[in-house]
Amino acid sequence: MSVNQLIKPITAEWKENLNIGGCDTVELVKKYGTPLYVMDEKTLRTVCREYKEAFKNYNNVKMMYASKALSNITIATILDQEGFGFDTVSAGEIYTVYKAGVDMTKVLFNGNNKTEREINLALDLNVGRFSVDNFHEAELLNRLASGKGKFIDILLRITPGIECHTHDYIQTGQIDSKFGFDLTQIDEIVGLTKNKYKNLILNGLHAHIGSQIFEIKSYQDEIKILTNELNRINSTYDLNLNELNIGGGLGIKYTNLDNPPSIQELANVLEDVLNEQTKNITIYIEPGRSIVATAGVTLYTVGSTKQVPNGRKYVSIDGGMADNPRPSMYQALYSAEVCNHRNSEEEIVTLSGRYCESGDILINNIKLPKLNSGDIICVYSTGAYNYSMSSNYNRVEKPAMVLVNSGQSDMIVNRESLEDLVAREVIPNRLRKE
Ligand code: LLP
Repeated sequence: MSVNQLIKPITAEWKENLNIGGCDTVELVKKYGTPLYVMDEKTLRTVCREYKEAFKNYNNVKMMYASKALSNITIATILDQEGFGFDTVSAGEIYTVYKAGVDMTKVLFNGNNKTEREINLALDLNVGRFSVDNFHEAELLNRLASGKGKFIDILLRITPGIECHTHDYIQTGQIDSKFGFDLTQIDEIVGLTKNKYKNLILNGLHAHIGSQIFEIKSYQDEIKILTNELNRINSTYDLNLNELNIGGGLGIKYTNLDNPPSIQELANVLEDVLNEQTKNITIYIEPGRSIVATAGVTLYTVGSTKQVPNGRKYVSIDGGMADNPRPSMYQALYSAEVCNHRNSEEEIVTLSGRYCESGDILINNIKLPKLNSGDIICVYSTGAYNYSMSSNYNRVEKPAMVLVNSGQSDMIVNRESLEDLVAREVIPNRLRKE
């Protein structure tokens, strides 16, 4: 089984309590408190190696981890050690990989509205590739690069017109999208890069069709469209473009309802679709979720409970929509387990968050061993798009993140303090108390 087809980290095992990465989760909670993001290094490295193994027959594949799924210096260091490059979409993501000591030529800068400041930072740090998203950006990038006397390798982000069956908000490759050039605009932008934007070096095309994708056929369609376009551009304009970035998107298993394809099945698409003419193209892939999701879990402590007369039983935990906005944003489903006991008596409860909104429900109607205040809950597959989309809603401090491996735990992101919450605030002098 591929890691993305598992709900739990590969090291999850039951001893006296639930253990992850050889660490007792109850001990982790005693040491670091809750809510607590826990990243299992073994699962993370295993999935990276699965990607490398799956694509090993194809020499020209470059793995670019999509930082937006989870970006911090330790994660970047591990991915760098595993031989990944990085897809970044902001100054913050670029700066994070830079601080991790990553070779910046292995970094790609994506995004539909890169600001002048961000482009300048990326140029100054010698980011390896820009995926140019629109006409405005091409003009701006050429001007800024020319001001610095630099020649910049670019790909063109295009919308291949593929609709995949995922949540509307996380679909990106359909025709009416804010991302990339429409197929009908490609000739114009290729002409501009060839004739006008002398500081841009066009290498190829980029597309991303969506996220949490379960249908391998969507990738086949996408790659066919991209290779056809590449061949068409090369022959029409006498060019030799030989790079395709096929984006990320491979789905993962959050609950038993999910049945994602394996990483190998994704890799096989290349074998199926590429032919004599296209087999030497350099292919970039940008997985985010499928790299970090399964390695991550979140630990919470149960607080109050409420039995609605003749209704649901709510069990409230000490986190919720600010550390994991996905259930309230996308109706995302998760699996959970109790860490500190396995009472045989079970009940169906609704795990509710601590934030002041009725919609702050983490998991509806989940069957768990009978819970008491003080119990520890583990929510699985929270490694992607949880910390990276977390907020300080209700003025709650963001949780800590620890990395676990072989019984050792290390804090990799400190828990925010109350002082952190007010640290950047400034009171105008005229409002100060005497
Ligand atoms: N490349 C590009 C250009 C992207 O826009 C994305 C994700 C990725 C790669 C990585 O896709 P992944 O392998 O992680 O599916 N916040 C949403 C997901 C948004 C994804 C946006 N783009 C969620 O929590 O489900």
